[in-house]
Amino acid sequence: MSRTMAIKKTIHSVDLYSAYVELRAEIDHAILRVLESGWFILGNEVAQFEKAFSDYVGVTHAIGVNSGSDALFLALKALGVGRMDEVITVSLTMASTSDAIVRCGAQPVFVDIAPETYCIDVEKIEEKITERTKAILPVHLYGHPADLDPIMQLAERYELSLVEDACQAHGAEYKGKKVGSFGDMGCFSFYPTKNLGSYGDGGIVVTNDSDLAKKVAMLRNYGQSQRYRHDVIGINSRLDELQAAILRVKLRRLDEWNKKRMELAKYYTELLEQTDIKLPVEKGYAKHVYHQFVVQLSQRDELQRYLKRNDVQTQIHYPIPVHKQKAYEGVGDPANLPVTETACAEILSLPLYPALTFDQVSWVGGLIRNASC
Ligand SMILES: Cc1ncc(COP(=O)(O)O)c(C=O)c1O
Repeated sequence: MSRTMAIKKTIHSVDLYSAYVELRAEIDHAILRVLESGWFILGNEVAQFEKAFSDYVGVTHAIGVNSGSDALFLALKALGVGRMDEVITVSLTMASTSDAIVRCGAQPVFVDIAPETYCIDVEKIEEKITERTKAILPVHLYGHPADLDPIMQLAERYELSLVEDACQAHGAEYKGKKVGSFGDMGCFSFYPTKNLGSYGDGGIVVTNDSDLAKKVAMLRNYGQSQRYRHDVIGINSRLDELQAAILRVKLRRLDEWNKKRMELAKYYTELLEQTDIKLPVEKGYAKHVYHQFVVQLSQRDELQRYLKRNDVQTQIHYPIPVHKQKAYEGVGDPANLPVTETACAEILSLPLYPALTFDQVSWVGGLIRNASC
């Protein structure tokens, strides 16, 4: 495709169809294999994918569930988080991070973010630890890992559990090791737009602890230890065979896709580094997998409108922090989170996904450089 043709079309904020076309033969084959097997729930495909994903992350167990939201909920449940407990997390995230805490009957305690990485500010965690604190739940936001060493030190010192929300960070690394493998448990989402996405909902919990793995496996399957033996009250939250078969195909491409995301991010950075816009930072400890390429500027809304007029779609992750959401009125302490609130008012996610071309990034970068806002 010539550059002129590429830039005449709308540049979407995501493009799931191109990823399907690239893998059409393999995906179609995987789907047919499941249809012809006549087995749709908790079979070979899920078991094979769980094995492949745990190997990928570098842990001993992975338990497929029906979403990232349930992965978080079931991980906290398995750790025994319940009524009167507090869990420390962030407010710049998908609400389902803290919803998982509330669904356990516990209370989220929000800590502000570090302005450079948008992940939890590790300097501000300790002051929020109380007698009731049971766990810390950092989010590896936009594909950048939270600073895990100080978090693990605090967890050890205060005997707290650590659950990683890695829903946006498949393949991201902290000091050379994959995220999800540091905490008692790591949780991933396979929502279609994620770096590793299914064609429906899906999620997974990973852990090196076989007792926790058994608990999550029971909880996801009506609390059964074996068929019709219900040891605990569970839910129905299983990754299905079709999604697992699709994910087996896509997992093999994850590193290649992440590499393309990183190259596109580098190119955006080169194009925009002379502007006043704040660009994503990659800390020395981080392998950032750019689930989102998030820029920050005070005239965010003007830039978004200008790009829209020029057929470039953008998104805001997230316009309202969780502690300011209607559902959170009266939930937890009134939090003072100035960095989070400024970010929500100023951040903008530019298009970035493996099917995006360098010409398209060049076009978007050129538009932004020429913008008067
Ligand atoms: C940081 C974060 N946590 C949790 C979730 C929930 O995942 P799911 O949509 O699969 O329930 C998401 C997905 O949007 C997310 O981005």
